[in-house]
Amino acid sequence: CGIIGIIGIQDVSDRLVDGLKRLEYRGYDSAGIATLVDSGIDRRRAEGKLVNLENVLSDSPLAGITGIGHTRWATHGVPSENNAHPHMTDETAIVHNGIIENFQELRDELAKKGRTFDSDTDTEVVAHLVHAYLDEGLSPEEAVAKMLPKVEGAFAFVMIFRGQHDLMIGARRGSPLAIGYGEGEMYFGSDAMALAPLTRKICYMEEGDWAVLTREGAKVMDTAGNVVDRPVVQTAVSGAVIGKGNYRHFMLKEIYEQPTVIGDTLSTMLHPAQQTITLPDLPVDLKDVPKVTINACGTAFYAGMVTKYWLEQLARVPVEVDMASEFRYRNPPLPKDGLAMFVSQSGETMDTLEALRLCKREGQHILSVLNMPESTMDRESDAVLMTHAGPEIGVASTKAFTTQLTVLACFAIGMAKARGHLTREREAQLASALAEVPGRVAEILNHDDHIAEIAQKVAEARDVLYLGRGPSFPIALEGALKLKEISYIHAEGYASGEMKHGPIALLDEDVPVVVIAPSDELYEKTASNVQEAIARGAKVIFISDKEGIEKMKRHSNPMATIELPKVDPFVAPILYTIPVQLLSYHTAVLKGTDVDQPRNLAKSVTVE
Ligand code: G6P
Repeated sequence: CGIIGIIGIQDVSDRLVDGLKRLEYRGYDSAGIATLVDSGIDRRRAEGKLVNLENVLSDSPLAGITGIGHTRWATHGVPSENNAHPHMTDETAIVHNGIIENFQELRDELAKKGRTFDSDTDTEVVAHLVHAYLDEGLSPEEAVAKMLPKVEGAFAFVMIFRGQHDLMIGARRGSPLAIGYGEGEMYFGSDAMALAPLTRKICYMEEGDWAVLTREGAKVMDTAGNVVDRPVVQTAVSGAVIGKGNYRHFMLKEIYEQPTVIGDTLSTMLHPAQQTITLPDLPVDLKDVPKVTINACGTAFYAGMVTKYWLEQLARVPVEVDMASEFRYRNPPLPKDGLAMFVSQSGETMDTLEALRLCKREGQHILSVLNMPESTMDRESDAVLMTHAGPEIGVASTKAFTTQLTVLACFAIGMAKARGHLTREREAQLASALAEVPGRVAEILNHDDHIAEIAQKVAEARDVLYLGRGPSFPIALEGALKLKEISYIHAEGYASGEMKHGPIALLDEDVPVVVIAPSDELYEKTASNVQEAIARGAKVIFISDKEGIEKMKRHSNPMATIELPKVDPFVAPILYTIPVQLLSYHTAVLKGTDVDQPRNLAKSVTVE
């Protein structure tokens, strides 16, 4: 999941581990480093957290000025020390992200020639293949050049070679990889975050590139093997250590940052004094767009779902929203001059990126909503609207999601204006509703203790149901996702109206039902569904405003209520996200799980 490589002028093992620490937030299940030592290549690996690797290293330190490191998120082979990277032979060691799809064939061929394998991974095959070519008398560069066309799949890797203290070779096909330029040193990193403390001078490799590094610099080649010139940029990513401050977890810190980062994000498009929204110049005339296609994964997909409601209602444009992993393979017909939008915190998620490339090939205008400047999607989009959430470290997305919603709300208003569907008066109302959001979020954070109490009930549950209707439906989905991600309690989000077509069969007094019900035009409908649930003994946690809660209490008795400020229903999805984030956070804390790095999850998923 995370790669770092250093050709140094002094021992590298500490710096490799430091680099891995900065990549820790991406999620991983084992880690390791390898360096060139006098007699050959040596490595240290450990299952689980980096502290385990540090313990191994303190018992048995690793010298060497050239080395590679990796945090692994298991694809082929269980998480174990044996399957942890680096993988090596006597001649070469490799760290690798992504998947080698034809590894079994290659492995069978190599096994026939008498090579034996120590792990179940696809990665080890590459080390053996390169070793076999070295045995044929090829140089490392020639061996890698010969290996590259033989491997299929999407990946990034970095290799070192026995006795070659001034050499490191890396390749990028699908998964990101960057080159860092130091003072007499050179680096590889899977993102600028890992490299930032070492150098700010970065070259982002392009799709299909591979590079040969020495202390002198880098030689970058494209797929055809031609030497190419790639720009070296000064990265804006800070090398400063990102701390938790006084918060117990990054997730809580990030939840509490929301008033600030939503405000920062709004300030790029909202002019409070004029009560207007202006979009930056876009390379497409929004007036003429026949259809909007939105793609994303995970939490970002739910931001896309909310956007469909907003765009259809306000801008009267047909919208299709898809999980990128589904979209990619269903050969969707796309209209001429369509607008394709991509929502991604990292800007690297493989399925979203490939959906973007597909839309580009199909002649769509590409507009992305991203949090990471300089990411692959940033570089491949026609235009980008940035969320100004700052680095998000908790694997479960919080502030990235609400800032995505913030950007997309502004975009919906901008598009409605461009298409002549918004009166000046309504624009002013929406602009002032948005301007109030940071303050409202801060108010909602004051309910933290109350929500922590409610979490005690949720923590006892085996299943939890989340309900919402209209734009609150994706928030129900997000609430359920957040709860399962970090507390490991099974949760489902459902459209309120669909409850009677299935999940109602599950309801009894042991199943808490969390209801997202702002006072909007759909309130009464959701309220009826809640009555149906309460009539079956369900314990309802009802999230609404004062008016909504009072109405509900007239007829029935929810187990708990969370009262939010009354707002224009347009901005409700942003605000109603906050209590479901806090509810999952406190539930996870009560269950004692690893909130910031929940098991099996990764922050940036660069495999299919
Ligand atoms: C992973 C993360 C989620 C995130 C999703 C999409 O699954 O754990 O929090 O929503 O990827 O990531 P992206 O970077 O594209 O927003």
